[in-house]
Order: sequence, then structure tokens, then C-alpha cells
Amino acid sequence: MLDGKALARQILDDIATKVGARVAAGKPRPKLATVIVGDNPASALYVRSKQKDARQVGIDSEDHRLPTETTTEQLLELIGTLDRDESVSGILVQQPLPIHIDLFQVVIAVDPIKDVDGFHPFNAGLVAQGLPGGIQPCTPSGIVELLERAGVRIEGANAVVVGRSNIVGKPTALLLLKRNATVTICHTKTKNLAGHTKRADILVAAAGKPNLITKDMVKPGAAVVDVSANRVEGGQVGDLAPGVDDVAGWLTPNPGGVGPMTRAMLVRNTYEAEVRRRP
Ligand code: GUN
Repeated sequence: MLDGKALARQILDDIATKVGARVAAGKPRPKLATVIVGDNPASALYVRSKQKDARQVGIDSEDHRLPTETTTEQLLELIGTLDRDESVSGILVQQPLPIHIDLFQVVIAVDPIKDVDGFHPFNAGLVAQGLPGGIQPCTPSGIVELLERAGVRIEGANAVVVGRSNIVGKPTALLLLKRNATVTICHTKTKNLAGHTKRADILVAAAGKPNLITKDMVKPGAAVVDVSANRVEGGQVGDLAPGVDDVAGWLTPNPGGVGPMTRAMLVRNTYEAEVRRRP
């Protein structure tokens, strides 16, 4: 079992100690500013959990809620204010945004030094080129950290990532490549998905389709990471069909695997963004 909940706890405890030491030294408390546009209940839940994790380690949070009919210009104005606010360490604009909003304008408006999601092309470009110094996106870095700490060998492994989003699939593939995996990215137009997944030593399912990955598509002993949070009646499911746990060597529970790691990485990014901006 790739116990994301337990590892996230350890990471948060470590940051709590560091934040405590900074505050004891008379430095300001880091602060995370979150922005939600519209009333997507899942977004509200995710952001609440992110703020709760931040609070638990001593990071303040500031909650901004804008109505669905907010224009791109109005949202850019808020982001500009947060960029200029000395007290704000990190800015998180929860996605998805309403379709009338220009996502690209929003992503590039966040100052890269406060871009704790790692979505700005400056940070994404550093990840793409395998360069240090930027901010790495939360879910991909959480996945890689979970694999590494569990002792899953990444170097030389066949890694298959199902999904090519800018938030998860693409950057996860790049972080695995940086660690010398042989990486394949599969997506909705991929022919013979099972032919790819069956060869995977590391399989990252980030497609957002319940039951997409069945037991017969998984190599025995593979490390399987189930990223998606698909809303279904009665709760949350990932992309794995029942029975995958019979063949996988390592498996993330869902919920309780990747989600807590994403939040821990966000908290760590916020702390590190503060330290970098105001040493
Ligand atoms: N929507 C789904 N995942 C994420 C995330 O990690 N950050 C933001 N801002 N929105 C998301």
C-alpha cells in the first residue's frame, strides 16, 4: 500500500516544525491566498481541505470567493492585488474555472514566485527542462515523492501515465523522465491502451474515468497510482476497476492516497515560496 495519508502527515509535521521556528525567530507567518470562482461544491471541499492542512502547520489562509459571472478582468484584478500583497506567500486559483474565463490569462497573472500550484509557464518550463529553482506542481510531485519514499525504483522503469492534463498527466510524465524512467503518455486517442499499460512497472492513472483500468491491464507487481477523484453517488472513486489490487505490487488507496500528498506538497510549496521571497 502506498499510504499517502501517513506520508503526508510526516511531511506536514516537518513543515510545522519549520514554520514554528520561523515564527519564533520573529518572522511573519506564511500565508496562502485561495481563490474560487463560482459555486462548484467539489472545489469548495478541496480548498477547505487545503486551508485546513495549511492551518495545521501554522500557515494562515485567506479565502476569496467570487461569483460565477466574474469577468476575466475582475479576476485578474484580484490576482494583481494578491501579487502585490507583501503578506501573501502563495496564491492558489482553484480549477476548473467557469468557461467564460480566460484560463491562460489567469495562469500567467500569478507571480511565479507565489505560484504554489506550479502552473505558470515559467515554473512549468523549468520542470519541462528538468531545471531546479522553480515551483513544482503539487499532484505530480506528491506522486513521485510517494513512489520514492516507498522504495519503488523509478530509474529504468517503464512508466505509463494515462492522462495528459497540464495539472497532472504531462508534468507527472516529466518528473518521472527526470528520474530516468522510460515514459509513455496515453490519452483518449491512444490505440490499444492495454498494450501500453500491461508493460508498465509504474502505472499512473489520471484519466478521470471510473473503471478504465481493469485487472487484466496491469502487469503483476506493478506500482499503480490512482490519481482521479471521480464523483459518484455515495462518494469518490478513481480510475481503477475492482480487482486491480490482486495484481498490483504497490497501490494507492483512493481516497487516502494521492489527495493528501497533493495537499502536503501545496503546504510545502507555500512554506518554501515564503522562505525564498523573504529569507
Ligand atoms: N483542480 C484540480 N487539481 C487542482 C490543483 O492541484 N490546483 C488547483 N488550483 N486546481 C486544481
